[in-house]
Parts: sequence; C-alpha cells; structure tokens
Amino acid sequence: QSELFSLPENMRSRSPDYGFLVQQLEHVRKILDRPLSYAEKVLYSHLVDVEDALEGKGRTIRGETYLKLNPDRVAMQDASAQMALLQFMTCGMKSTAVPASIHCDHLIVGHDGAESDLQSAIATNKEVFDFLESCGKRYGIQFWGPGSGIIHQIVLENYSVPGLMMLGTDSHTPNAGGLGAIAIGVGGADAVDALTRTPWELKAPKILGVHLKGALQGWTSAKDVITYLAGLLTVRGGTGYIIEYFGEGLQSLPATGMATMCNMGAEVGATTSTFPYTAKMGDYLTATGRGPIAELAERVNKTTGFLQADEGVEYDNVVEIDLSSLEPHINGPFTPDLSTPLSGFGDAVKQNNWPEKLAAGLIGSCTNSSYHDMARAASLVKQAQEKGLKPKVPFFVTPGSDQIRSTITRDGLIPLFESEGATVLANACGPCIGQWQRDDVSKEEPNSILTSYNRNFRARNDGNPNTLNFLTSPDIVTAMSYAGDLTFNPITDSIKLSDGTDFKFDPPTGAELPEQGFQAGLSEFLPAADPQPDESIEIAVSPESDRLALLEPFDAWNGKELSTTVLLKVKGKCTTDHISAAGVWLKYKGHLENISNNTLIGAQNAETDEVNVVYDFDKTPFGIPELMIKWNNENRPWCVVAEHNYGEGSAREHAALSPRFLGGRMILCKSFARIHETNLKKQGILPLTFDNENDYDIVKSCSKLETENLVDMIRKGGNNGGFINLKLTLPNGEVHHIKARHTMSADQVEFFKAGSAINYIGQKAAS
Ligand code: F3S
Repeated sequence: QSELFSLPENMRSRSPDYGFLVQQLEHVRKILDRPLSYAEKVLYSHLVDVEDALEGKGRTIRGETYLKLNPDRVAMQDASAQMALLQFMTCGMKSTAVPASIHCDHLIVGHDGAESDLQSAIATNKEVFDFLESCGKRYGIQFWGPGSGIIHQIVLENYSVPGLMMLGTDSHTPNAGGLGAIAIGVGGADAVDALTRTPWELKAPKILGVHLKGALQGWTSAKDVITYLAGLLTVRGGTGYIIEYFGEGLQSLPATGMATMCNMGAEVGATTSTFPYTAKMGDYLTATGRGPIAELAERVNKTTGFLQADEGVEYDNVVEIDLSSLEPHINGPFTPDLSTPLSGFGDAVKQNNWPEKLAAGLIGSCTNSSYHDMARAASLVKQAQEKGLKPKVPFFVTPGSDQIRSTITRDGLIPLFESEGATVLANACGPCIGQWQRDDVSKEEPNSILTSYNRNFRARNDGNPNTLNFLTSPDIVTAMSYAGDLTFNPITDSIKLSDGTDFKFDPPTGAELPEQGFQAGLSEFLPAADPQPDESIEIAVSPESDRLALLEPFDAWNGKELSTTVLLKVKGKCTTDHISAAGVWLKYKGHLENISNNTLIGAQNAETDEVNVVYDFDKTPFGIPELMIKWNNENRPWCVVAEHNYGEGSAREHAALSPRFLGGRMILCKSFARIHETNLKKQGILPLTFDNENDYDIVKSCSKLETENLVDMIRKGGNNGGFINLKLTLPNGEVHHIKARHTMSADQVEFFKAGSAINYIGQKAAS
C-alpha cells in the first residue's frame, strides 16, 4: 500500500499520509459498520486511537463522542500567532511536531495602495514581524512575511489538499475545505496541541448535508450559494455541525468557489465546511504546482473511496439548493445572515432607509480573490471601459496573495483595474479587519459600502459603527460601483451614458484558472520550501517591548483544596468580548501583562449594576483588572461568579489567559459556553456550574469560596464530570454549603495539576 500512496520527496510535507489514513479508515469502518460521510472519513481517520474512541459507542458518534485527533498541519496568522508561539515556546521543544506556517496579514493598514501601505505596516509592526520570523527560523515553521498574502489564500495555494486535517488560528480557516480539507479555526492553546502532537479534543460534530443541484448561471457565483445559505441557517444554525456539500452540482464548481463557500461557513457557526474530491480540485492542485498530489488524490479516491462520502450515508440534516435557479444575494447590514435576493434588494434598501448612495466598493480578501473572481470582475470593468464609464465610488481591490497579484498583473487585470481608478491594496486583510484608513467619509457618518468579504459586524471595516457593509459577490460589487446606487440591479437596470444611450452589463465571464499558469510572486515573499529548525536562532523579544513579552509558566497546583475570594458577581450576558475586549487591545495580543488590563472591563457588577467597578473589603472602588492585580499581589486567589453561557462568542483564549495571569483560580456560573470552558481548563482555572441555580442569588462579593473535595476529584482523575462541594462564607460570617458540577476529564485534571495544558505538554516533552 505504501508504494501506491507514495509521493516525490519534495511533496511529502504538503500532503497527509494517505496510506496511514486509509488504514485507519478501514479500522473505523469495521467498528462503525455503516456508510460514512466524507467529513467523518477525514475526521475519524485522524483519531489518535480509533478503537478507544469508537468501540462500544454504538453507531452514533456524531454530536456525542469526544474525539482525540492528530491534525496534520497548523497555520497561524500574525495577530493570533503571537500568543500561540509564546505558549509553544514554554513547552521547550526544538521544533514543531507537524508542519506549520505563519502568515503576516492582519496588521497591514489599507490606505494609499500596496506599496506605501506595506512599508508603513512593516515600520509600525517591525518587532512583531521580527519575533514571528525568528520563531519560524528557530522551530522550522514556514514564515510568510508581510505582503506575501492572506493566510487562507496562501494555504489554498500551497498546503490544503483533500483528506488533510488542519488547525488554524483564525476563524476562516475552513476556507481550506475548498480543496477537501477538514480545517478548523482554533485559539493558540489548541494550536499548541497540534504543534506538539498532543491529542486535540473535539466533540464529534453532526453533519449538515447541503445537496447542490444544477449548475451556476450568469450573474450567480459560489458566493451567492453561501450568502443564501447563511440566510437560511442564521448565524447560529451551523453550531455543532460540519457542513458537507454533495450532489451533482459540485462538479461545475471551481475549487476556489468551493473555498469561498467553506470560508463563509464560519458565519453560520459551523465547526467547518468541506467538499469531497472533485476533478476541479485536481485541476487547481495541478495549476498550483502540486500535480503529483492531484494524481495521488485521484488514485486514492479510485482505489479506496476515501475522498468521497459512502453511498447511502445519512446526514443529520439536509438542505437542498438548486444552483440553476439561484439568484445573487446581498447580505447585511451588520449581520451576515440578513440575506436579500438581488431582485428584492432595491426595495429592502428603501424600506429600511439604508443609505441609497454607495460610498465604496471593495473586492478581494481571503473570501473572494481567486483568479476566477478577479477575471469575472475584470470582464465587467472592461465592458464599462468600452463605454467610457468609470466607477462612481472609490473602488478597492485586495489580492489574496502575491501569486494572485503577480498573475493578474501579467494578464492585464491589475493594469485594467488601475486604469479605471481602482486602488490596489497590499496582499493582506486591510479593510476586512478594521485596518482601513478612510478619507472619503467622516467618522460616524452613516454610509453604505459593498464588499466581497465575509463579515459585516458593526465597525468591523473602518471603526465607524454607522458604516453599513453589505456582503455579496465581487461581480455585484463591481457592477454596482459603476452605478453608485444601492437600488441598482445590474441584471435588469441600465446606466445612462453621456450620449444619452443606455448601457446594460452582460453577465460576467472569466477563466477559472490562468491560461498561462500561475506566476509565482516576488521571490522575497517565498519562504524556504522545507525549513529546518535552528536552535542557534535567538527569539527576538525586547524586554522593553510593550507589544511582546515572553510567558512565564503558571504555578502548578499545590495539591490542596482551593481557597478563593469572590472578586465579582457578574450580572447577565458575559461574552468573550466582555471578558477580553478587542479593538485597541488587539495591539497587545503578544503581551499578556498589558492586554490583561482589559480583563472583564465589560462586565456588569450584579450588586451595583456598574460596569467595570468592583469593591475591596473596605469598600474602596476599583476597576476590575486593578482589583485583580491588587489581590494577586496580596497573594489572594480570587474567583468570579456569573450567570448563563459565560464566555460565549469567540474562542478568544486571552479570556482565559488573562484571568489566570491576574490570579483567578475558579469561575462559578450557571452555565458556560463550551469552548470557553475548555479554554479555562487549558489555563488551569477550575470551571464550575451551580447545581442549583438559585445559589447564585446568595453569593456576595468578598465572600470566601472554598472547595471541599477537589483533592479527591483530582485523585480520581476527574471522571469526565461530577460534583464539587463548596463552602461559601459570606462577608457577615454566614456559612452556606453549595453543590457545583465540574466536567473535568483525565487530561484536563493533568492540566490543572501542572498549572496549565502548556505546562503539562512541556513536562511530557521533557520526560
Ligand atoms: Fe483576513 Fe478578513 Fe480573511 S481578516 S483572514 S481577510 S476574514
């Protein structure tokens, strides 16, 4: 078998070990004895121990069983890579255990155009980029510097292949599903699991099958499939699911279009999205220099069926979409699931009093900057150019990678965009993540923009909460930029030319792949093909830096019951944004001490209704992080008491790291958001939930809260859940005994004992 599945040496680190995965799959099949979906095949074949995970669990795994997995690869973007790598460094390993890559894309502000924006970003963020580069060299991680491109586009061009399982420290990591990968967005501590080959845990997702019929026509593109689906499912509809596409409609979709759909699956909360192998994936792999992997994937699929769903597979839910009759959709404002068909959009604009005048059109980003996307947009620009029309509003193009930029420059697309007045921004995230310095509207001015991006939360693009970002395909953005009016429908409406005649766009067209092949970008952007770790490299962190600081390991558990003081009783919703605010704080992602000054500053004090105000024993008021720092300096471990779904929102690991850094040891609440609960355990904080919710009412700040049987629970290895008895001593001396629940697994008990998951991994690596 191994010969059947072998690859040339220079391709091996870019492909999963198909021989091994197919063997694992055979084992899975024997145990489960039922048709498997494609996503299940990829996931379960990455199990650390197939038997242990699946045996005796019956036929139902999805939605119930916790899987311990060994991902093949890790990708990290510059903002989140800082904490991932700082944590990885504390493990004391010489190199990463799986191939990994770093991508400098989030910290580049879009303003004047690629060249000057890039230079100023390099100057502003030099120490962060230097740190990331030195980590790359020291640990053998491929480093894609500023200007090389956006993480997901580079992953698609270089690393994503059918059957791969990858973790990425960015929520749009699922983009890689366009080439049949299972790619999941995670926080830094999870990435460290994969980097150190520590089993990564995931509750087996359910599978949502999306049945695609027919083929896309005219103005409709892959983006419209996912904007339409987002409207159907809503922002929470995919939670706990992998979206798996199937049906004859797949065959006509280019791999990059499938990537767009997977990318934006993050907007419905899906764990990830993926596609089984198609011939167009093979075409894309070949066009991006991975012909041998394309041939191998084809062979693997033919001989084993690994890269497709089994006949007769049952999905947990099925949605059907007829591509032939689907029309373009526009989603927004402020939420990606407010989906309006193009034919009804003009009316919706009027009914909702959205600003009719378009302020700017932006195409590209990690979601929509493929050759196909750009070629279709260019076909519209060309039509308009022939009639002497120019875009009526500022028009921006963000290529996803230098390879794309270079290829579309050679093929005349960038010169065309620029000749018509477009600003071509750096190959980076820019306006998609708030890195957009706008000169065209004043701050706070209500205005509408159209983008081919994926997210449109308030203030995301330009910091202006009154910017209405409508998400749609690059085709619709481009055509509507010529009308400058949101009520314009390019399929039915015309634009008046200066000679009085009417001009109507023909539907966009464009090659899926460049006829002359892709042209590699500038060589300065290309990382070494197979970087080797080099222990002699000093990791560049200045002790004076306010943006980066090396991590000190958290203290190990002292073997005793926890004795904490209630610092804050939180009222109502407490998301990861309340616990670890973003915005201006993002700058400090690599500096735990500095970013921790934002800890819980959005939380509301249940006793006073004040936000970010807590009281010391003598009733002196403090900001929440200030009292945490004071008590930590006084060696007074503290806890927080809260209500339901504590930590909902993102997987932001600073929401667990910062409380731990400032001396928090326990969170007691009515319920947790699952990812945050896991993050707390990873950082050595004990997460507990009230057995009787009414006990929340009796807790007061400055009470003593002590565990009574923690030592026993730890000795028994957690047992995946049980009770912790708590003694609550109120400030007036009154004593209550409270029952709380824990969900600690054997591994998580080890994290707690060691002080954190990272400490535990480090101990194991050293032994
Ligand atoms: Fe960057 Fe926006 Fe994509 S921030 S990774 S371009 S979602």
